[in-house]
This record gives sequence, structure tokens and C-alpha cells, in this order.
Amino acid sequence: MTGDGTRPSVEARGISKAFGGVAALDAVDFEVRWSEVHALVGENGAGKTTLCNILAGIYRADAGQVLVDGAERDFRSPAHAIDAGIGMVHQHFRLVEPMTVAENIHLGWPETPGVVSQRALVDRTEQFMGEMGLHVDPTARIWQLSVGEQQRVEILRVLARGARVLILDEPTAVLTAKEADDLFRVIRELAASGLSIIFITHKLREVLAVSDRLTVLRQGVREITRPTEGATASEIARLMTGEERVLDVEHRTVTGQAALELKGVSALNDRGIEALHDLDLTVRSGEILGIAGVSGNGQSELAEVICALRPLQSGSITLDGADLASLSVRAVTDIGVGHIPEDRIGMGMVLSAPVKDNAVLHNYWTEEFSQGLTLDRQGVINFAKQLVETARVQTRSVFSTAGQMSGGNQQRLVARREALAADRLLVAAHPTRGLDVNAAQEVRSTLIDKRDSGCAVLLISDDLDEVLLMGDRIAVMYEGRIMGVFDSADADREHIGLLMGGHSAVEAAS
Ligand SMILES: Nc1ncnc2c1ncn2[C@@H]1O[C@H](COP(=O)(O)OP(=O)(O)O)[C@@H](O)[C@H]1O
Ligand SMILES: [Mg+2]
Repeated sequence: MTGDGTRPSVEARGISKAFGGVAALDAVDFEVRWSEVHALVGENGAGKTTLCNILAGIYRADAGQVLVDGAERDFRSPAHAIDAGIGMVHQHFRLVEPMTVAENIHLGWPETPGVVSQRALVDRTEQFMGEMGLHVDPTARIWQLSVGEQQRVEILRVLARGARVLILDEPTAVLTAKEADDLFRVIRELAASGLSIIFITHKLREVLAVSDRLTVLRQGVREITRPTEGATASEIARLMTGEERVLDVEHRTVTGQAALELKGVSALNDRGIEALHDLDLTVRSGEILGIAGVSGNGQSELAEVICALRPLQSGSITLDGADLASLSVRAVTDIGVGHIPEDRIGMGMVLSAPVKDNAVLHNYWTEEFSQGLTLDRQGVINFAKQLVETARVQTRSVFSTAGQMSGGNQQRLVARREALAADRLLVAAHPTRGLDVNAAQEVRSTLIDKRDSGCAVLLISDDLDEVLLMGDRIAVMYEGRIMGVFDSADADREHIGLLMGGHSAVEAAS
């Protein structure tokens, strides 16, 4: 049943849920209407997934009611919820990889006859896709599809089971900018046809772009439900984090000599295939150069060649005119290059070692801590304590192992440690990936402080919003090449999105 956009489809009243005595949801009210896209927003751990898992019959609430079309329901399984028209697309897909698209969609089809020909399955799937305005080749096997296509199949499968309230849990986390825009169009069309869409996200731009109303959860409590029209990103961020301060980056135009200079750089990836092709790039002291691009287009290899972790096939890399490529990893650190690695667990930390040792991982051999052959233990402890304090790392003590800290705290420690080591150049690869808003802001502030102190900063991120927020200049990377470099003031989101997808500047302009 659908309606005019004011009647509630699903209501949660006073929902509470605890896990092992810790409250994940505390008396939450949540109401969604027919024909609306309702964004459910909050930081990691706010309770978004838990609330929707309750609506979708996966968890049962400790207290409170769920109503569908005004009638109270008590879902004991996802099948009960789907019978009532509520279906959820999870962050991790549940498709059967070796089967075709048509077969996967029919897995959940209520009136699938026992035996049907492939032809009939494909025809019915095509017809259904036409009705829903969502298309994927019905004969393709799941493993042959891109992530964006697999997600479409998931949505179709839930719709095929009769869902009229569609819950999407962080659906854009795995999508490119182009795929996300396609998804937004589909979401708008489904809502226009009368469905309710609950769209979980923590990305503010998406909330503003796609939703009719929004609800903010913070630490298991509902902060607000309001129309999206008239809401601002900083207001939502404040409600999400409970903090006043929202990062506002002033961009600068730096002229003059390059600090880091790459000329004609080519390098192989781990499989021996060329991943960087004849690449030129410069970063000046006192600027942040942001690299925009979808992961896997040579960004990892780029960071690694600069930090001497990967050999060059050809070309040159210099820092203030001096050759970098021939140095050892240790020598690169010694001359003032910091590296926040993409794989912070594998490369940035020794999880079994105490926090204090991780704090000096790259500089224990320097004069600061070494007296001849002995290590200045008290010096290390003092340094670690200070680092923990300035980076606002939460750890029981500097003697606890790094592995006992949460991922966010590990990341903050690595970021601050590397920033301290970086006098001249800081290479930051996806430094805020997986962090919540507060932790991400801390790391971003660190990068800005470095820039302002005159360090050259190379920021690699697959989050385009982050690159646009942070970059004084922005370079777009695609298939191991730089597709264009823009000053922050001239950076057009759509144009950059096209370049990230491999469209040339000429095509993009037309
Ligand atoms: N199955 C579970 N067992 C224990 N704790 C859980 C479980 N699911 C969620 N939590 C906890 O509940 C809180 C809310 O989590 P979640 O709903 O996943 O947040 P969000 O989706 O907003 O990131 C978190 O503290 C999380 O650790
Ligand atoms: Mg979640």
C-alpha cells in the first residue's frame, strides 16, 4: 500500500536494544512515510544498522513497538518482515555468486514455479526490471558483475519479494561517484512510485542530495527528525557528533619551486604489470595536493614509489632536487618524509608491540633516543606519552599493545607519528578510511597543520568529497595516469568525476 507522502509506512516507537548490557538504542522513535526517501544518519556505532535490523526482523527489540501501516507487528524473522513489505539490502551482499542474475532474483520470488525454463526466468526478470526501471544483464553470473551491478541485483531481489519499504544500509560505501549518482536516481524513482526508502549513510552530501527527510542518531538516541529542505551539512554534522566545530579548510595557492617532483615515472604492481605509466607530478612546499581516483588505479603504487617501498622502472623522483628513488626506506624517513600507509595495520604498526614502541617505530635509531648502542627508555616513554596525548589516542597506557586499541585510535597514532616525522613531505594514503567524523577531522587537522608549517602534503583518497575539501590542488588519477590537475577554485566535481571514470577532458567538456 502506498500513499500521498504524509501517511506513515513504518513506525518505531520507543525502541531499545542492548548488547551484553551496553545500550545500542535507547527509546528511539522513528517514522517513515510512503513515497519518501528518509535518510538515517549517524556516526559509526550510532545504532543505524541495529534499528533497521529490528525493522527488518533480524533482531528483536528489548522494548518498544514496530507498526506497519498503523498496525503493530512482532517480527520473529526476516521472512515475517518481508511478508509485511519490509526488505533490507545489507552492507555485505548475499548473492549466490555462481548463479545468474535471473536465478538470484527468482530465489526470492514468491510464486516461482518448481521448474521453469531459463528462457522464462530471463523473460520474467527482464519484464520486472522494466517495471522497476533497474537493469542488469539477466544472463550474467554474479561474479562477472561490478559491485554497482551486484547491488542493483540485491535491490531487485528484495523488490521481487514484494518489499514496499526498502532499507539500504550504507549503499554508496562500495560505489564509484558515477554509480552512486545512478543509485540516487533509482531511489528517487522508487519513492516517486510510492515506496518508502530508508537510506543509511554518514555522508552529508548524500543526505542533502537524495532525501526528503532525515533522522540523526547519536549514541543510540534520536537527535532530530526534520525535512531535508533547509538543512545544512554543518547542522547535520553538529547533531551527529555533538560538536560545534566543523572543519572549514581555507585553500591556498602556492607558487614556486616544487618540493616533490616526479618525471616520467613508470612502475610495476605486485603482479608485474605496469601500474604507473610515464607519470609527471609535482607537490610544492606548503600545499596539499589531493589525488582523486577510484581505488586500484595506481594510487597505492604511487605512494610506494615515492616512499622507496617499490622500485621504479623508469623516470625520476626528487625532493628539493635530491634523488629520492635511490634511497633506502630508512634514509627516506631520515630526510623528513612521513608516510601514512593505506594498510596501517600491516605497514604502519606492530600490533603485538606496546604503544610506546609503535610510537618510535621509525625514529628509534635517531640521536633523540639512542645513546651509543643503548636506547633511552625513559625518552621513548615520554615521547610516546606526549604523542598519545596530542593525538588524543585512547589507550589504557603506553605499555598496552597497539592491538588492544580500536582501529580509530591506531590510525590516529600512526597519522600523528608520521606527521611528526614529516618535515618536508607527508604522503597520506586514505588516512581517514573507516574513521568516524570526529576521528577523521582530527586526522585532517593534522594534515592541514603540516601544510601550514610548510610541509608538502600528498593526499591520496578515494573519497572525492575529502579530496575536494582538503586539496589546494587536485590531480585525477586513472589507470596509472594523471588525467588532469586543477586548482581548488577551478575544481568542478562533475568534471572530476568523469575523469575518474576514464573520460578524457575533451569528452568531458562536450
Ligand atoms: N551483534 C552485536 N553484538 C554486539 N554489539 C553490537 C551488535 N550489533 C551492534 N552492536 C553495537 O551496537 C552499537 C550500534 O551499532 P550499529 O547499529 O552497527 O551502528 P551503526 O550502524 O550506526 O554504525 C555499537 O556500539 C555496536 O558495537
Ligand atoms: Mg551500520
